[in-house]
Amino acid sequence: MLLFSKIFIPKYTKKVKKVKVLICGKGGSGKSSISSLLAKDLLARGYRVLVVDTDESNYGLSTQLGMEDPKPLMDKVGGKGAILNMQLTAYNAGQPIIVLDESWTIDEIPSECVTKKGNLYLMQIGKVHHFEEGCACPMGGLAKDFVCQLDLAPTDVAIIDTEAGTEHLARGVATGVDVVLMVLDPSYESLRLSEKTCAMAGEASKTVYFILNKINDKHAVKMINQLGKTRVIAQIPFDPAIQENGLSGEELNEKVSGIENITEFVIQCSREKQQD
Ligand SMILES: Nc1ncnc2c1ncn2[C@@H]1O[C@H](COP(=O)(O)OP(=O)(O)O)[C@@H](O)[C@H]1O
Ligand SMILES: [Mg+2]
Repeated sequence: MLLFSKIFIPKYTKKVKKVKVLICGKGGSGKSSISSLLAKDLLARGYRVLVVDTDESNYGLSTQLGMEDPKPLMDKVGGKGAILNMQLTAYNAGQPIIVLDESWTIDEIPSECVTKKGNLYLMQIGKVHHFEEGCACPMGGLAKDFVCQLDLAPTDVAIIDTEAGTEHLARGVATGVDVVLMVLDPSYESLRLSEKTCAMAGEASKTVYFILNKINDKHAVKMINQLGKTRVIAQIPFDPAIQENGLSGEELNEKVSGIENITEFVIQCSREKQQD
């Protein structure tokens, strides 16, 4: 398998019958917590689940899943500097900026870049480590290409947990996904961000569905009025047990009400794709 080297145009148009779910939202809204809980619920229903950590800063996801951090894919494919050079060369030559050029199944991901627990797989694109390290464009490019090229079986689901805000949408990571889910905590900032997220995802012809997190009934009514009833697929209450886990850095194993609605939505999307 060719990891990267030249500039290729990937076969993004290949018809695939599988489900890749992007989880986005503002920082602290609960993206990683929900990614973990969704992954475990899908797992319990017989799916093989790959969680892709594309957050360049935070390390919470592996803890919430109760898994070791794998080697970042970025390190495996030559490191940040090499990818940045490649991107600049392509940009200066007016060519498409492609980092990965071949499709990958879950089993083809280099073993050191995956942590595995039963049918649950975790991988990380890459993290920023140093002061004045520079931009995270190489991670963005790698994340986009990896997700686009990921070749899943019908009973596989990929959950792509993202950095806060709209950074990943700006870098086109949504290009290769089938479902965009935005996690909103009860805040004005989340509501404002939802407008921008919908507009940006719309440019990639994706519809955004919403998960209200840390919510109570009163706030839910207010937010649903603004977001629209049909687009809100789940409401997750504020749960002191999740907060406690977040503080102690323990694996999330709670049974959390509302997660099953997200799982069923994803399974429904997967079935619709099978019938396409
Ligand atoms: N439903 C919830 N109830 C209580 N605390 C929550 C809930 N969801 C997430 N948290 C807490 O909020 C914090 C941020 O969650 P996290 O999933 O890391 O957010 P993000 O990935 O969006 O930055 C964590 O401390 C987590 O434990
Ligand atoms: Mg996170």
